Amino acid sequence: MRILLLTHAFNSLTQRLGAELSQRGHEISIEFDIADSVTEEAVALFRPQLIVAPYLRRAIPESVWSRNVCLIVHPGVVGDRGPSALDWAIQEGVSEWGVTVLQAEAEMDAGPIWASANFPMPLTKKSSVYRNEVTQAATAAVLQAVQRFESGDFLPQALATLADVQGRLRALMKQPQRSLDWQRDDSATVLRKIRAADGFPGVADRLFDQPCHLFDAWPETTLRGAPGEVIARRETALLRATVDGAVWIGHVKRPDGIKLPAALAFAAEAAALPQASLDGWWRSAAPTWQDIAYEEAGAVGFLHFEFYNGAMSSAQCRRLQAALAWAKQRPAQVLVLMGGGDFWSNGIHLNVIESASLSGASAADESWRNINAMNDLTLELLTTENQITVAALAGNTGAGGCFLARAADRVWAREAVMLNPHYKNMGNLYGSEYWTYSLARRLGEDAANAIMRERQPLTSRHALDIGLTDACVAGDVRAFHLEVARLAGELADPADWTATIAAKRETRARDEAAKPLAAYRAEELAQMRRNFYGFDPSYHVARHHFVRKSPASWTPRHLARHRELGWVTP
Ligand code: COA
Repeated sequence: MRILLLTHAFNSLTQRLGAELSQRGHEISIEFDIADSVTEEAVALFRPQLIVAPYLRRAIPESVWSRNVCLIVHPGVVGDRGPSALDWAIQEGVSEWGVTVLQAEAEMDAGPIWASANFPMPLTKKSSVYRNEVTQAATAAVLQAVQRFESGDFLPQALATLADVQGRLRALMKQPQRSLDWQRDDSATVLRKIRAADGFPGVADRLFDQPCHLFDAWPETTLRGAPGEVIARRETALLRATVDGAVWIGHVKRPDGIKLPAALAFAAEAAALPQASLDGWWRSAAPTWQDIAYEEAGAVGFLHFEFYNGAMSSAQCRRLQAALAWAKQRPAQVLVLMGGGDFWSNGIHLNVIESASLSGASAADESWRNINAMNDLTLELLTTENQITVAALAGNTGAGGCFLARAADRVWAREAVMLNPHYKNMGNLYGSEYWTYSLARRLGEDAANAIMRERQPLTSRHALDIGLTDACVAGDVRAFHLEVARLAGELADPADWTATIAAKRETRARDEAAKPLAAYRAEELAQMRRNFYGFDPSYHVARHHFVRKSPASWTPRHLARHRELGWVTP
């Protein structure tokens, strides 16, 4: 079928649905929900048999839903309606939640139901539930709804005819309903409220007596202070005491500012706080904020790096490089780079770079520092001689993050993961992280250039099929970790390990003799220098809009196939 995906943005859910539907032989085109007239034009051009709306912020115009079946993905259980579905579910601590695929009609979220899927609700932040459980359930429900639509003999069920409906109409959750009372709320309440507002809109609060929105909260179980007081800092996070303990605040947004690591957004105030450093890289036994954590099981070392949104600033890259260099001295024979639960890595930290320009420094200089720090980290991984290295992707990975992963000997990705192994969407960025070495080596020059040019997201299965990754592992994040540990244990088997290490050293030496890594880096950086310092400001403009979340004013041509020159609907 010809299916139009109508969406506010090409977010990871839209990417996943587009890829899954394409893999099942459907013809997919995408239009951003910019204005009613633009949607009407897209429908006229593409003449879809079905419209699927994975992520909308406004209603579909009647001119479109009255003539076409439009399936809306609602991140709530059957009967739930309203714009704050996940926020209420998290704040109220429900144990089960779900996704409903319903047909657009005049009344929002009240149309007939084509499919639904439920899941046990984890104790985590909204953005994480959306990227993991909601995306998985939405994919299952949309595929089922599309199949039912195609069969022609399925009658969607009107909400009013259903007995036993779990959900109900809920209003938009406003800031007063999210507000924190540091003199009364215990840590669990503070965590739940901030998690229900992550990554948007955050909880409006005050730090150091100044207004800001809070994001990215983590529990602390040992340090304490007077309730409401900011008592310490650790790297990029700030620790604030509650009535029964304390909570780490990872990110904040100040009025008219951008979302930043808390200790950077309040740099002067944070500098005056005591540093609550952890001792080395070992994973702390008690729950706390720890962005880099190492653990070992037998001959396998696991290096976790839980960087918010997968963004890696110069300082984070340098610290991760130090942790990796340290892990390389351990007796472990296999080193697994685990990344974080939601993202493995999304490359250089565009918000921290943008903040450099806001504080009067040079965004170009910070970009240059950041890409060099990413490259140093990538080199540390590429030149690991005494261990087999694995990048284990439990979460999505984009841009430079994909090529940092590809610098490992093996890349294993969870089946639900989306990979975006390209840079051009960020203002035609050329990219570095030794991609010209790692990608062509795996795929050949032509296929590598096609991936960069076409800028399509890849499912984990697709990435495996084309040889970008080495395994596609089914299951949720927990099951993935168990399987990764098992597979890594197999790699450490002495019968194969010695031969694998010998072959790896030989390949590296041969590649180095043919063309040194330093030459790849120099060539890539020559292009990046142009991106950062050259006449064409596209990268700086694109970064500004990305960080500021400027609304799109058109759908990129590589997504809107119906807008290609010469497009004719069959
Ligand atoms: N730096 C800073 N923030 C980043 C980031 C980066 N490199 N990559 C993603 N983010 C942030 C987004 O701004 C968003 O922030 P929010 O919490 O305020 O909403 C959050 O991470 C999630 O991003 P989103 O785009 O919603 O996630 P997604 O899973 O739908 O899409 C990508 C993933 C990778 C396609 C998309 O985030 C992207 O294009 N990122 C930029 C990658 C890049 O160009 N890096 C620089 C070159 S190495």
